[in-house]
Amino acid sequence: MYRPNRAALVLSLCLASPLVLVGRSLVRAEERPPLGDYIVLSWNDLGMHCMNETHEKFSILPPYNNVYAQLIQRGDANSLPQVINEGVTLEYSIPGNTYSVGKTDFWTYAFDLFGVNLPDDVGLTGKGLTGELDPVSGRFVAEGVPLTPFPDATPTTEDPYQQAEIIARDGVGTILAESAPVLPVSTELRCVSSGCHSSEQAILNAHEREQGFNPNNTPILCAGCHASPALGTQGNQEAGYFSRRIHDRHDFLDETLPGIDGCYKCHPGVHARCLRGTMGTDFGLECQDCHGNMRNMARTIEQGRIPWLNEPRCETCHTSQFGEEPGQLYRLSTGHGGVMCSGCHNSPHAIYPSGLDRDNANVVSLQGSAGTLSDCTVCHGVTPNGAGPHGIMSTSGVPEGGNGLESEILNGVQQITIAPNPVVDSARFSIPAGEGDEGKLLVFDASGRTLALFKPHRAGDGSLFVEWQGEGRKGEQVGPGVYFVRWQNGVRKAGGKVVVR
Ligand code: HEC
Ligand code: HEC
Ligand code: HEC
Ligand code: HEC
Ligand code: HEC
Ligand code: HEC
Repeated sequence: MYRPNRAALVLSLCLASPLVLVGRSLVRAEERPPLGDYIVLSWNDLGMHCMNETHEKFSILPPYNNVYAQLIQRGDANSLPQVINEGVTLEYSIPGNTYSVGKTDFWTYAFDLFGVNLPDDVGLTGKGLTGELDPVSGRFVAEGVPLTPFPDATPTTEDPYQQAEIIARDGVGTILAESAPVLPVSTELRCVSSGCHSSEQAILNAHEREQGFNPNNTPILCAGCHASPALGTQGNQEAGYFSRRIHDRHDFLDETLPGIDGCYKCHPGVHARCLRGTMGTDFGLECQDCHGNMRNMARTIEQGRIPWLNEPRCETCHTSQFGEEPGQLYRLSTGHGGVMCSGCHNSPHAIYPSGLDRDNANVVSLQGSAGTLSDCTVCHGVTPNGAGPHGIMSTSGVPEGGNGLESEILNGVQQITIAPNPVVDSARFSIPAGEGDEGKLLVFDASGRTLALFKPHRAGDGSLFVEWQGEGRKGEQVGPGVYFVRWQNGVRKAGGKVVVR
């Protein structure tokens, strides 16, 4: 029988917010309450976690939320801030959501599916709905919190963005600091409710009778045969990765429902709208801009990508100055001063400033405004001299040309032809012909910040080009200066340098 892997990753799949998408609360810095000697940064590792509401027929994902936190002792004129991992306890709870049994039938089928006898309201890793986070190398983590999206007050109405409470205490129980991360969870895996399948039983009946697959021997754990790193299952060779099978089988959606709505058929979803970070909300990026379409999701696995472990990287569209630790996922990467990337930027798919107010609550309480945690004094207590995150100075911002930007973009790649250069009103970027699809073209400023993303067009002769009107962030005109362009399609790369007069 399958035994849950403690190192299992957990599932997200899901990302975003519906009606809750109201304007951001922008509080000016002087309005923020004074901070004490400590602060807690906290977040959910994935930005969305999916779970099945009913497990009677089959299970894709159990209730399993992961909460991360870092406790920081603030600095002052004589000392630097410190990430604290010892001599303190961090407790979590979800006010207004105190039980899960009865809101999902997971506990009825947990033994059949996962081979474990679980006490009520206790999840696969032994965590309950309240408890302590565990200290793990520079951070605190509660993995596998069995939260459902159903608050006690409205146990049949989904609220996918519940706010938890984290309380840090010292050795004698005195409160040091508090924090309120969103713990996103949704049951919007809409195989049936989307109108696509007539019932869960019909899905099972349609599955080939491979390897003794028996549609009546329920409940069935799909990941029992189809490997899923999210659950830590090995599956078997013939069945193949679950992610490959599910995206491949539904790749007709690339034609019938291209764009985010296709992904929202299964990933939460029309109600939850899990993609709610600044890139989705403010810059209009869609799932496909980062992940590719359904076909690409499956094809890349056929070519060796390990689902869940090989995901898009910030540094493919930003520069390495703004990249993850080498070989490490964003959600596990650490940056400036040992602070995790998510501590200053929030979860993947909910990158600050998020379109969902609740996501921004933590950072607003710290620096008075939504957006990247960029106020140095929040941690330092004073304005530090010297370079902070990504080389940013408290006085002058992101340094120009830092970290060998020019060689990073131009060295060892094909040349993008730019005409005219210097640019007067507009310019054509021509991408050298070769194998692979259209890919994407990015424009950077001289400090390495990403200004815009374009999908190239195909000319009559098959070559690729982008017509640039000098637009930068949010479409406004860029000022005079040096800019860099990079094109990539997963197979090839090209780069260029452009001057705007
Ligand atoms: C701006 C780029 C971007 C967009 C847009 C985006 N993703 Fe992601 N996605 C990422 C990155 C980056 C990761 C890997 C995060 C990490 O390394 O921890 C990821 C990871 C995931 C994962 C794996 C679990 C996790 O969270 O790490 C799933 C599932 C996923 N995305 C689904 C989606 C869906 C569905 C959409 C659209 C609704 C979407 N993504 C839109 C960048 C994006
Ligand atoms: C007993 C093992 C087993 C279980 C359990 C199982 N599968 Fe499969 N599945 C397979 C095998 C084997 C294949 C066939 C691979 C092939 O076509 O070579 C397959 C194929 C598939 C395909 C591809 C079908 C196609 O025509 O492209 C999908 C989609 C799929 N499974 C989904 C699921 C889902 C959803 C579940 C859970 C409800 C599930 N499977 C449970 C073994 C299993
Ligand atoms: C037919 C339902 C369905 C649709 C449509 C769908 N997904 Fe998924 N997706 C799933 C399921 C189920 C999983 C979980 C697989 C597992 O457990 O390994 C998943 C997992 C993922 C993952 C994590 C695993 C991996 O391969 O890295 C990503 C990323 C992802 N989906 C992106 C997308 C994007 C982007 C789209 C739209 C282009 C999309 N999905 C559309 C059902 C779907
Ligand atoms: C989220 C908290 C946090 C924020 C925000 C923050 N820092 Fe830091 N900073 C730290 C920590 C933690 C250290 C590590 C202290 C140590 O090395 O023991 C540190 C160290 C430093 C150092 C010492 C040099 C070094 O790298 O060890 C400098 C200089 C610095 N920060 C500048 C800045 C500047 C400038 C900003 C704002 C642009 C900033 N920091 C924002 C937490 C933060
Ligand atoms: C101490 C806080 C802090 C940490 C930790 C941190 N960043 Fe940042 N990050 C910033 C600030 C400040 C900016 C500039 C934001 C602004 O000016 O709007 C930034 C900007 C970015 C950008 C946007 C660059 C652009 O094109 O404009 C990316 C991408 C990024 N960071 C990725 C990361 C990654 C990956 C990590 C972890 C390795 C990380 N950051 C860790 C504070 C942080
Ligand atoms: C598919 C490409 C792509 C990926 C992958 C990607 N980004 Fe972005 N990002 C962009 C683009 C394009 C913009 C918007 C620039 C514009 O249009 O002004 C942007 C903007 C941002 C901004 C807003 C900058 C500002 O000052 O307003 C932040 C912060 C950011 N990204 C962080 C991240 C982080 C963190 C990751 C990894 C988890 C990431 N990005 C992954 C393309 C990407």
